[in-house]
Amino acid sequence: MKIIKWLSSFYTKSPSMSKKRYLVTAALPYANGPLHIGHLAGAYLPADIFVRYLRLMGKDVVFVCGSDEHGAAITVKARKEETTPRAVVDKYHAMLRDTFQKIGISFDIYHRTTEPIHHHTSQDFFRKLNENQAFLEETTEQYYDENVGQFLADRYIVGTCPVCANPEAYGDQCEKCGSALSPTDLINPHSMLSGSVPVKRPTKHWFLRLDQHEAWLREWINTGIADGKQLHNPADWKNHVIGQCNSWLDQGLQPRAMTRDLDWGVDVPQEIPGSEGKKLYVWLDAPIGYISATKQWALDKGKDWEPYWKSDETALVHFIGKDNIVFHCLIFPAILTAHGGYILPVNVPANQFLNLEGRKLSTSKNWAVWVHEYCEEFAGQEDVLRFNMIKKMPEQSDSEFTWKGFQETNNNELVNNLANFVNRVLVLSHKYYSGVVPRIDTEITFNSGWETAKTGQYNEELNLLHEKLQEMGAAIERYELREALRILMEISSAGNALLQFNEPWKTVKEAPEMVKVVMNLAIQYVAVLSVAIRPFLPFAADRLRKMLNINPLHDNGDLLEILNELVEGNPVIPAQHALNEPEHLFSRIPDEVIDKQIAKLTATEAPAQSPNDSSTSTNCQPLKELIQFDDFAKLDLRTGTIQTAEKVEKSKKLLKLSVDLGFETRTILSGIAEHFTPEQVIGQQVVIVANLAPRVMMGTESQGMILMAEDEEGKLSFVSPAAAWPNGMGVR
Ligand code: MF3
Ligand code: ZN
Repeated sequence: MKIIKWLSSFYTKSPSMSKKRYLVTAALPYANGPLHIGHLAGAYLPADIFVRYLRLMGKDVVFVCGSDEHGAAITVKARKEETTPRAVVDKYHAMLRDTFQKIGISFDIYHRTTEPIHHHTSQDFFRKLNENQAFLEETTEQYYDENVGQFLADRYIVGTCPVCANPEAYGDQCEKCGSALSPTDLINPHSMLSGSVPVKRPTKHWFLRLDQHEAWLREWINTGIADGKQLHNPADWKNHVIGQCNSWLDQGLQPRAMTRDLDWGVDVPQEIPGSEGKKLYVWLDAPIGYISATKQWALDKGKDWEPYWKSDETALVHFIGKDNIVFHCLIFPAILTAHGGYILPVNVPANQFLNLEGRKLSTSKNWAVWVHEYCEEFAGQEDVLRFNMIKKMPEQSDSEFTWKGFQETNNNELVNNLANFVNRVLVLSHKYYSGVVPRIDTEITFNSGWETAKTGQYNEELNLLHEKLQEMGAAIERYELREALRILMEISSAGNALLQFNEPWKTVKEAPEMVKVVMNLAIQYVAVLSVAIRPFLPFAADRLRKMLNINPLHDNGDLLEILNELVEGNPVIPAQHALNEPEHLFSRIPDEVIDKQIAKLTATEAPAQSPNDSSTSTNCQPLKELIQFDDFAKLDLRTGTIQTAEKVEKSKKLLKLSVDLGFETRTILSGIAEHFTPEQVIGQQVVIVANLAPRVMMGTESQGMILMAEDEEGKLSFVSPAAAWPNGMGVR
């Protein structure tokens, strides 16, 4: 009989984790295109891991998302595809929904902002804000296209950026220098609809008094206190999130228009005077989409939606990419507060950006890995992409995905570590015990998998597993998912080491009792992994459960149950349980598959759209083609010092140098004689390519090459380490 049943609140330690229920949101993607790996790594995967973990800990959690189906993002796309906004959102909504499902993002609801329930919800919000005098009604001059008889959304005006002179800046932003603009900032504005020069016309709009919210927002962001209550600890928030908010706050918050002159969007409620032809600004209606989605979920499930948005005992967490920070940390909180009755997010763990093969992901240039294509081409390997995305997750700074890295990660970690461990345990169990979990008859010590030459004791090892699982959970609670994954893989490594240190294949004859203990423990490791991998590798978790012949996860407290067993030193799978046959959990990805993907990426790349896209200035040489990290790693670069230098007879260009590498001295012929005299270079510290194949020039063998920087006019300069750096050191 168990004396204590530990509760999930015992394990979940961080303050935001002590709440009764959770509402987790992931940014509503615009239904104007498919999903790429940057979206996945930015918001959806971290949210999914967090939510799956909460479910495993038995928490009450609702995970909402949906398509953002309004705004210029949609109408611009409709013009491009020569179709209607309705057709655009229907097409991409279905695509996004299916892709999320295939890659295992476990939303409780994937809603859409064109649903009537959403229109009603956001109109009610607008009414309430209006009643509460949260708006300033103001008539301003806005650009109007007389040719098409329409006011121009910011995105429909192009002109020259006042900051960087990019001639194709949009009315809201310059995509070249990243400056936030307003249409009237543009030099030479013209309409994207007709190409004509727009005129200014007066029009009335509703402006949210953000200026009135500045003071409390500043305090809330920086101290976690609002309305005298400590709502969160700012130390739990990511630095870059707080930093971005403060840089906005420091510029002073201005009233911001919450309506637009458009024909696609949520109508401003009819009874409000002057509402005709006016739609809600998309950044007003979209975040309210989280609320509408929750309402729909509650209707479907026969639950009450209100506690999830209105109770202090709910933790609201927004997962987003960094381009959405101000909307979630300043504007939406201001909207919720101006409305009244709603809670504020306890955290907004925004991620930075993921780059692809050395460059920014770009939809317009088709420099992307599209998740729906991946799911087709790598069917059954969805977890491999997830694993890579987590490993490369841009949690604190931008990060990079490469196909070679993807392959290496799969082969080295998923196959060689995790799948290999699982396979060995199952194969050996079948070989020694016909697949039946061996009974432990005698207490016996063995080598612990956690450290060479440390003795293990069955129950203590189970306690150790308990500790590791807690560490992993704590990392997830801190939103440090890369770290959580590292700890998870440590468990698998320790499992492998357990087998390696004890070598059952050698000892099974002479020490059968010891091997039973080791094998039983190894099976417990696998069982623990089948739950612990669930947030990261949900499909593999299912496969593993089948191999172990144990119940599918119910995603409601499974991890908590295991923690309760382990802490008491109880096994997770009892002796005598019959295991199924092993299957491959993961398999190697060969070079051909990767080469094909790299070729596809470059082949389908759309040409740069304007000369301004090139990031190199005219005075610099164009970049050479991409190389893989492996290519770079082949270079052996070393520090050295030039000891002697002399002219080479009959050569204008070459100097013959001897270079001290610490462990040896090299003779190197270098083409620098027209730039430096021998006297000038003696004593110079340099970096050389130390593993370049030797080459004979003018009768002398040159044993390496010296790195030089060259300017536009061909002038040379040594590339050298800081003064007095030791010779022979590696350079990377
Ligand atoms: N559609 C927006 C984007 O892709 C995100 C909207 S998030 C929400 O950048 F909060 F407004 F829903
Ligand atoms: Zn610019």
